[in-house]
Amino acid sequence: MKWSVLIIASLLLWSCGNNQEQNAQGEWIKGTEQEKLETIEKQFRGFDMAMVETGYRYQELYWAGQDENWEYANYQLKKIRKAVEQGLERRPKRAKSAEHFLTVTLPEMGKAIEKRDTVIFNENFQILTNSCISCHAMEKVPHFTVKEPLYRQSPIRK
Ligand code: HEC
Repeated sequence: MKWSVLIIASLLLWSCGNNQEQNAQGEWIKGTEQEKLETIEKQFRGFDMAMVETGYRYQELYWAGQDENWEYANYQLKKIRKAVEQGLERRPKRAKSAEHFLTVTLPEMGKAIEKRDTVIFNENFQILTNSCISCHAMEKVPHFTVKEPLYRQSPIRK
């Protein structure tokens, strides 16, 4: 009798421990597996945060070109791609509108940066800007008009 109680108790304990591992709870990410995934996905946000990042990096790219800081320009270009691609992973319905931007505009901008010439850079920056505008039109936010920046925001300068 004693033994059977012990065995049942330890089995119960074991299964509890096991369950806890399968359904770990965070400080604030809690609930079932499904609920936790939903919380995490919500926190990653949709396309808006990808665009806030893109907007910032677009400005940094511009000033990098004016400074002839080509390494920094290249860095910002890569991060724009990453921000947009990850945004599209979260919002795949927007992918079609971004196709030209990703497959033509960004590679062309990369080639312009390689030339290390601000005149060529500025020409391509205008093409890049038009590509932002055209996706905004396709995605029905044409009132989000993009224009080259007027002032620096970041402390990175030459
Ligand atoms: C998929 C095509 C697409 C491309 C390419 C794109 N955008 Fe956007 N952008 C959007 C959409 C859609 C929104 C509105 C986001 C929303 O409603 O969640 C937006 C919003 C924005 C916002 C406002 C973000 C905010 O919430 O404050 C900025 C800034 C922005 N875009 C800048 C740019 C710049 C600069 C470029 C080019 C370097 C660019 N975008 C390229 C689709 C695009």
